[in-house]
Amino acid sequence: MNEPVRIGLIGTGSHGRSLLANLLLLPGVEIPALCDVDRDGLAEARDMVVKSGHTEPDGYPGGPEDYQRLLGREDIDAVVIATPWESHAPMAVRAMRHGKYVAVEVPAALTFDECWDVVNAHEETGVPCMMLENWSFRRDNLALLNMVRRGLFGEVVHVQCAHAHDCLDHWFFSPEGTMRWGGRSLVDKNRAQYPTHALGPVWPWMDLGSGDYFDTAVSMAGRPLGINDYFRRKFGPDHPYAEAGFAQGDIVSTLIKTKKGNTIFVKVDMQLPRPYDNQWELQGTRGIYNEQRNSLYLVDRSPEYHQWEPFPPYMEKHDHAWWRGMGAEAAAAGHSGTDYLELALFVDAVRKKTQTPIDVYDSVLMSSIILLSEKSIAAEGVPVECPDFTRGKWRTKKPAFGVEP
Ligand SMILES: NC(=O)c1ccc[n+]([C@@H]2O[C@H](COP(=O)([O-])OP(=O)(O)OC[C@H]3O[C@@H](n4cnc5c(N)ncnc54)[C@H](O)[C@@H]3O)[C@@H](O)[C@H]2O)c1
Repeated sequence: MNEPVRIGLIGTGSHGRSLLANLLLLPGVEIPALCDVDRDGLAEARDMVVKSGHTEPDGYPGGPEDYQRLLGREDIDAVVIATPWESHAPMAVRAMRHGKYVAVEVPAALTFDECWDVVNAHEETGVPCMMLENWSFRRDNLALLNMVRRGLFGEVVHVQCAHAHDCLDHWFFSPEGTMRWGGRSLVDKNRAQYPTHALGPVWPWMDLGSGDYFDTAVSMAGRPLGINDYFRRKFGPDHPYAEAGFAQGDIVSTLIKTKKGNTIFVKVDMQLPRPYDNQWELQGTRGIYNEQRNSLYLVDRSPEYHQWEPFPPYMEKHDHAWWRGMGAEAAAAGHSGTDYLELALFVDAVRKKTQTPIDVYDSVLMSSIILLSEKSIAAEGVPVECPDFTRGKWRTKKPAFGVEP
């Protein structure tokens, strides 16, 4: 079990270092090399590795393409990529072509061509590529997956979900009001910018990629008022972004129809004032689950007719094997334990040379909402067909994610 797994990290910014902290908790993980164009972040990450008692890793700070020297190293089995979105697919493709297992941060791809590039690289090399969609690994979401598979909700027919997170003061822009790399895409893109955390648990709940698949998507975006209003409120009317034009609408609503005829509603809401939430709600022929209420109603079991009952006892009863096995370590690692769990399972797959828990097809499926929504919004809300990135394999593939023995 503790056979060394040698991992190179590309991107030692805030989330890259958080992933690194998790990797350093895992038995047998070695970090021979780190890469970042920013020397400060790289030095901080190198210190973390040394302080945890590991050998000092080599650093690759030599510009945007220097990661390719890291990929060429013989002593690396896998890479973790935590760089800005635009670089994810090109880096993942090159890593697979160097024979390195890939764990790439969300999203896996930003264009239809990039989706095909990562799928093709995987199919041509046989190397697994996993998008690090951590909300697929939340304890509540995995318990619900067990309940869905055990038939408690009957046939699932509809799910709604959201990535609802006001990101103006830390993600799209710095607290001082300068544009960060994330904000650049708000200027000329109008799309569901960051939908994968919403969809993270949804695709296994609905057997997407293994028995069902996206058919069409329709998206609409509301007015882009939030960014200007935020800058007027916080920095005054003379700040350039108080008046500047942004293409990105404040709320993007996407309705997906699946091949089976089920529906999924995805809301992306990232530039109006609000607390964080994901608004998951699942409905089947025998019941409903609502994450915000932390409640459910099951027609065959709930004690009161048409009354919600608490979800936690069900979560405990249907707790997933991953949480029963690694829950204590995961919970101690922070960020809901999901980063620890996803990386522990990724490392396990690298060590055993097996498929990763989220595969390349799952990764591009979740990412494809960005592109489908962009296309539908640009065409005034027409339904857009989702390419079949599995080339028909979804019809016969058996569900694999988190299937308990
Ligand atoms: N799963 C989650 O919960 C979660 C949370 C936060 C961020 N993220 C994802 O993690 C990724 C990184 O986000 P972040 O918040 O750490 O951003 P960040 O800006 O803090 O870090 C990005 C790092 O990448 C480096 N970089 C840029 N181009 C590079 C290149 N060509 N080669 C090497 N390094 C390069 C930057 O210098 C920076 O240090 C994003 O894709 C984001 O979507 C995921």
